Amino acid sequence: MAEYQQTMRAVWWEDEDEGRRPAAVCMIDQSQLPQQVVHLRLTHEREVAEAIKMLRVRGAPLIGITAAYGIVLALYRLAREVGPALSLEQAREHVRNVSEMLAGSRPTAVNLSWAIERMQTRAQQELAGDTSVALLTSALLVEARAIDDEDRVACSNMGIYGAELIADGDALLTHCNTGWLATAGLGTALAPIYVAHQAGKRLHLFVDETRPILQGARLTAWELQRQGVPFTLITDNMAGHFMRHGGIKAVFVGADRIAANGDVANKIGTYSVAVLAQAHQIPFYVVAPCSTIDLHLASGELIPIEQRDPAEVTTLRGTSIAPAGVQVANPAFDVTPHTYITAIITENGVARPPYDVTLRRVCTLRNSERVC
Ligand code: MRU
Repeated sequence: MAEYQQTMRAVWWEDEDEGRRPAAVCMIDQSQLPQQVVHLRLTHEREVAEAIKMLRVRGAPLIGITAAYGIVLALYRLAREVGPALSLEQAREHVRNVSEMLAGSRPTAVNLSWAIERMQTRAQQELAGDTSVALLTSALLVEARAIDDEDRVACSNMGIYGAELIADGDALLTHCNTGWLATAGLGTALAPIYVAHQAGKRLHLFVDETRPILQGARLTAWELQRQGVPFTLITDNMAGHFMRHGGIKAVFVGADRIAANGDVANKIGTYSVAVLAQAHQIPFYVVAPCSTIDLHLASGELIPIEQRDPAEVTTLRGTSIAPAGVQVANPAFDVTPHTYITAIITENGVARPPYDVTLRRVCTLRNSERVC
């Protein structure tokens, strides 16, 4: 099958331009979508951390990739400011501090700490040999590019495996944004939909708007419209109604962290959708690369849940929608217990219960050894 055409990239690296322009981490500012497509060119690691925190860049795999490039950017920036006097020891210390700062920007998606740890391991390997600041920087750029490229391939494979679960004529439902705005490739949960659509399967996607900050309405709807996939945007509280009356055949969602027992942290509201799906006997599929699986955590209860600014709940795009001074809760993610999950689709194949066995298995496999 021909590769599905992505229309744009959400994050990319720009090399320095012979002293004319510094190296940069570039991205679409997702906080401005769908009204405007604004490109950011970030040249300081603090701007990268701010972009992750403020959801200018978001989605579990994509924040990991962004942080990896952010570490490289930090070395370029320091070398520019300090010049040839920059020592390897200073560079090592800087990588450590910047890694810590970036890792603290969002706590739930494990892809962030996974990518940062991978960059630190690469730095340690390089520093163990006979190296220089320039060699360390280029080794880290190679590693960041590898993380980026591997995610693109993982998305294509998740798309192929997931599309096998979609039949011609299916109506499906998704929550949040899990497409090319959230990854380096086609996406996680949207990848099977793109692949099935490309293969000529007729499908229709119900898209939850995803309160409080509307990743479904602002981002998924924008992406699907550009890609020509038929969909209907609904408010989150319509999901049950359309499961009952809309002929929904399966739910596809992404994940921010999956515990060893298969419990899944994903965008707030995912748990409600899973419970509704089970009540209507609709398969509930989670699509995520192995970089989202955290085998160190025995269950979802141990996953840290990010608590965000109450203003995200009391305002809609800057307009107040609640009385001043009300008490507000704003957890950005919830945990869906594994008992609600029909299967977890990874780049190495489809894991089914018992997840404490099958997730370990997919994480140690290469793609050529898929399990299904
Ligand atoms: O707060 P966000 O927009 O970063 O949350 C994103 C999600 O919850 C996605 O479903 C998740 O990252 C998995 S898909 C790439």
